[in-house]
Amino acid sequence: MAMLRISYLFLYALVLELRFCFCSKVYVVYMGSRNNEHSQDILSQHHTMLTVIPGGSTEQAKASHVYSYTHGFRGFAAKLTEKQATNIARMPGVVSVFPNSKRKLHTTHSWDFMGLATTNESTGIPGHTTMNQENVVIGFIDTGIWPESPSFSDHNMPRVPSKWKGRCQVGEAFNVSSCNRKLIGARYYLSGYDAEEESEKTFRSPRDSNGHGSHTASTAAGRYVPDMNYNGLGAGGARGGAPMARTAVYKSCWDSGCYDVDVLAAFDDAIKDGVHILSLSLGSESPQGDYFHDAISIGSFHAAKHGIMIVSSVGNEGFRGSATNLAPWMITVGASSTDRDFTSDITLGDKTKYKGESLSLFKMNNSKAIISASEVNAGYFTPDQSSYCLESSLNSSKTRGKVLVCRHSGSPSESKLEKSVVVKEAGGVGMILIDDTDKDMAIPFVIPAAIVGAQTGERILLYANHTRKPTAQIFPVKTATGSRPAPRITSFSSKGPNSLTPDILKPDIAAPGLNILAAWSPAIRKMKFNILSGTSMACPHVSGIAALVKAVYPTWSPAAIKSAIMTTATTLSKSGRPITVDPEGRRGNPFDYGSGFVDPLKVLNPGLVYDAQPRDYKAFLCSIGYDEELLHLVTSDNSTCDHTFRSASDLNYPSITVTDLKQSYSVSRTVTNVGKPKSIYIAVVSAPRGIAVNVVPKRLLFHSYGQKINFTVNFMVTAPSKGYVFGSLAWTNKELRVTSPLVVQARSSDSNFSR
Ligand SMILES: *[C@@H]1O[C@H](CO)[C@@H](O)[C@H](O)[C@H]1NC(C)=O
Ligand SMILES: *[C@@H]1O[C@H](CO)[C@@H](O)[C@H](O)[C@H]1NC(C)=O
Ligand SMILES: *[C@@H]1O[C@H](CO)[C@@H](O)[C@H](O)[C@H]1NC(C)=O
Ligand SMILES: *[C@@H]1O[C@H](CO)[C@@H](O)[C@H](O)[C@H]1NC(C)=O
Ligand SMILES: *[C@@H]1O[C@H](CO)[C@@H](O)[C@H](O)[C@H]1NC(C)=O
Ligand SMILES: *[C@@H]1O[C@H](CO)[C@@H](O)[C@H](O)[C@H]1NC(C)=O
Ligand SMILES: *[C@@H]1O[C@H](CO)[C@@H](O)[C@H](O)[C@H]1NC(C)=O
Repeated sequence: MAMLRISYLFLYALVLELRFCFCSKVYVVYMGSRNNEHSQDILSQHHTMLTVIPGGSTEQAKASHVYSYTHGFRGFAAKLTEKQATNIARMPGVVSVFPNSKRKLHTTHSWDFMGLATTNESTGIPGHTTMNQENVVIGFIDTGIWPESPSFSDHNMPRVPSKWKGRCQVGEAFNVSSCNRKLIGARYYLSGYDAEEESEKTFRSPRDSNGHGSHTASTAAGRYVPDMNYNGLGAGGARGGAPMARTAVYKSCWDSGCYDVDVLAAFDDAIKDGVHILSLSLGSESPQGDYFHDAISIGSFHAAKHGIMIVSSVGNEGFRGSATNLAPWMITVGASSTDRDFTSDITLGDKTKYKGESLSLFKMNNSKAIISASEVNAGYFTPDQSSYCLESSLNSSKTRGKVLVCRHSGSPSESKLEKSVVVKEAGGVGMILIDDTDKDMAIPFVIPAAIVGAQTGERILLYANHTRKPTAQIFPVKTATGSRPAPRITSFSSKGPNSLTPDILKPDIAAPGLNILAAWSPAIRKMKFNILSGTSMACPHVSGIAALVKAVYPTWSPAAIKSAIMTTATTLSKSGRPITVDPEGRRGNPFDYGSGFVDPLKVLNPGLVYDAQPRDYKAFLCSIGYDEELLHLVTSDNSTCDHTFRSASDLNYPSITVTDLKQSYSVSRTVTNVGKPKSIYIAVVSAPRGIAVNVVPKRLLFHSYGQKINFTVNFMVTAPSKGYVFGSLAWTNKELRVTSPLVVQARSSDSNFSR
């Protein structure tokens, strides 16, 4: 509380100062773990540091200060010149100083998301749906919440747990009665955003003006809402993964994104408040910065140290190596489809029929002329340019009354929704959009319209170009279930390998993130529910499942919960074939889905877990080159690098990755029995191509609950191949399979170091 008041006081001074000095920027000064010192002492230390830098004074120190972090870790945010930042970075006790970067919410093209329809996203586990969930608190670092949404009703919920230390922060259109026994905490962080952007901020309070935060919170923990239908489309009920879990929101993201200093302030409070799980559907753009120059890595490191499980989204950049949120102390989620599609039928004048993807509810009463957009170019636009249906590129006298065939380049700056607006303004009555990269993402177009893949698109163009009086009719969207293999990994979901620590596989897991229906903020459009796509939507599915595991096993560490989620995942689609990846339908691998697609029906019975403690993350940091001096700064204790690993591969992680493998290498792991006291597991290996894998021992005999057994996995190159190869190791018995992906990269032969 003190912290917030102080930061607000300084905020006003800061805004005044901005007018006179554009030379300084907001920086995070990160100072590692807190010891037992008093918050007040930490605060005065921060001011002293700001005073002693050259050009500093007491007044300036006050004016430049934005936040102090005193609960979960130490540090502050302040407006500094580059020179001052360099000076502070050299002061004793400072781990890192980095500029206040803006992070993105992990939805895809936000323009396209203001649409609607319905689905029944169920991740419930029979018999376990409400058990003890009311003692689990999920925190959301996001855009806030729409508290009146039926998804956050506290009907039939018991009193707030007495251990809870969070609060309901009052603000614009948000008062104490906005919180209830379901939404038990709500705070907002504006200082970093205010310091960087002058734009109008809607709802200076935890209230969600964007919709994203309400959507993610209700996906993870929304109450059951019996009727989420839209205009008669796919009526049904929906709820989050853990409908009886408590929610606490930390609004650090505003319309344009989330600033580091605000995100860190949210972590700091969430650690103090006592959340059990933190859900973050946001991240940096790839490549992600080093762990201790990245606000989310820093905040989550300290949260994990306090026993909080961190669930994050991998990002929406789609290409190989674009994965973000790479730290091993979080579980990082990629996005898949579900078995539900939103399709529109297209019928051509020659009676051929095609299916396209859409959320458009508009109806064409009869067939209309169809023409390629390249043939209706206006003014200086070439036919090729016009084929993308960009603003002002269409000649309306040639477009009026027709269905246009447009293309999408796949560039994230191009909005598909916007194209339908352009066609409509030029007098077009329908649109067929050719897009091979993201053709499965349903868009609420403003006219009858549908997205088709390249192959179908070329056929339609051929018809339109080689027929006298070609015509087409586009029908309104329908929900179709089970029409295609599912789940598939979406094209936009960011892929491994891990660009920072290749020996740790990322993403960890995949969950539904395509066309997900959940609660929404009526502030942005007059509707209570909306369909969105992105790894942002996949992340809260795992947060909800983590809450179920936490509810049933309250003493499990975050690493154990993560292990249970990962080792029970599946790499097969519902039809029993390997999961594929959009758009080309290639066979998926661990860089697409980590351990696989999450299986909520199995997570409560993992049999064995790969556990890890905070000290293992210290050993991990030593193994990737952090020296003891830096380690002390981060951890503020007497940690040494005595307990370290030969490489990051040795962290007791539920997946096994070995890179730069010369001839042979052995990785050790420890499994803990959380199943039947007396049980036997046998190793079943699917070796990566060209690699011999030997597991020692091959049988694990347990005789008690909680018993730990070590084993080693020896990798030997038999036939070197270029790039990464994949396999799996499963500990199996009659009922269970505890599966880890194996990812190996043999060193190319022209290199002469040995590992
Ligand atoms: C604030 O509280 C009053 C009752 O105390 C309530 O009538 C009002 O609707 C609340 N306002 C908001 C924005 O929640
Ligand atoms: C939603 O799904 C759950 C689980 O499959 C099911 O029990 C429930 O009946 C469904 N609700 C509706 C309204 O279809
Ligand atoms: C389709 O027909 C309905 C009912 O006759 C009419 O209200 C609507 O305007 C028509 N739509 C178009 C695009 O002509
Ligand atoms: C649009 O097409 C008409 C008819 O072909 C032509 O006269 C007119 O100049 C074109 N307008 C533009 C802006 O290209
Ligand atoms: C349509 O045909 C014309 C000439 O017949 C050609 O110039 C044009 O490139 C064709 N367009 C498409 C989209 O195939
Ligand atoms: C670190 O070690 C020193 C000397 O052994 C001791 O005085 C100090 O209390 C230790 N600090 C912590 C945080 O354990
Ligand atoms: C298992 O491995 C851990 C960590 O490598 C080690 O500390 C422990 O002593 C080993 N236990 C056994 C029974 O070998």
